[in-house]
Amino acid sequence: MHQDGMHRVGGRRSVVSGQARILLVSGSTRRGSTNSAALATAAEIAPSQVTAVLYDGLAELPAFNPDHDGDLLPAGPAQLRRQIGESDAVLFCTPEYAGTLPGSLKNLLDWSVGGGEFDRKPAAWINVAAPGRGKGAEDSLMAVLGYVGADIVEAACRRIPVDRDAIGPDGTVIGLKFAVEIAEVWDALLSHLGKLLRTRSPPADCWNERISMVKHLTGAYVKAC
Ligand SMILES: Cc1cc2nc3c(=O)[nH]c(=O)nc-3n(C[C@H](O)[C@H](O)[C@H](O)COP(=O)(O)O)c2cc1C
Repeated sequence: MHQDGMHRVGGRRSVVSGQARILLVSGSTRRGSTNSAALATAAEIAPSQVTAVLYDGLAELPAFNPDHDGDLLPAGPAQLRRQIGESDAVLFCTPEYAGTLPGSLKNLLDWSVGGGEFDRKPAAWINVAAPGRGKGAEDSLMAVLGYVGADIVEAACRRIPVDRDAIGPDGTVIGLKFAVEIAEVWDALLSHLGKLLRTRSPPADCWNERISMVKHLTGAYVKAC
């Protein structure tokens, strides 16, 4: 465990115990990335009932090759599929490159197609681009997530611009405003997961309690502003 409630490696799917495991995928391989900083911050301030897992294999994934998409599946893509499969939801944050997704993120998504792990998997995105920019990445991500059958949680998809100079020495985004918006993203994701749980299994009181806790947390942030 990296710190309280935050893991970097795989583990068991845990929504049955009221703990939501969320995989955070940055589309940037750049050191000092604003997208990666946004997700690191989301992990840092995740509510206690969230186990946030920062995916860190993007730069090492081999180029997708259909010939290796079966018995010969390389270790990196196999681990990626396992991590998506073990997660209750996936949260993306990606820059726009040349009007669309960075090739490395599209490569990751291509590797995920054959495994089918995204099918009905709740997914959302944060877009940290400056206002008026990054729409191409957003649209492309939505198109691919639609193609793989993800359950896009629109209420949790947010534009929250992050300047490069807003990143602190610990690699997270400085400022209460950003934290408030991220708390709302967690609230929307957990509300969605709570609804799914209620429709798929008997009522889980622990989820109702936990959703109220996130709402309380979000309210506290708003007041502090
Ligand atoms: C190869 C390349 C292509 C880019 N293309 C676009 C683009 O089409 N639209 C845009 O708004 N920004 C574009 N940018 C700017 C990046 O989206 C921006 O620098 C972003 O902050 C990078 O994310 P990061 O800080 O997480 O690495 C491009 C940057 C690079 C390196």
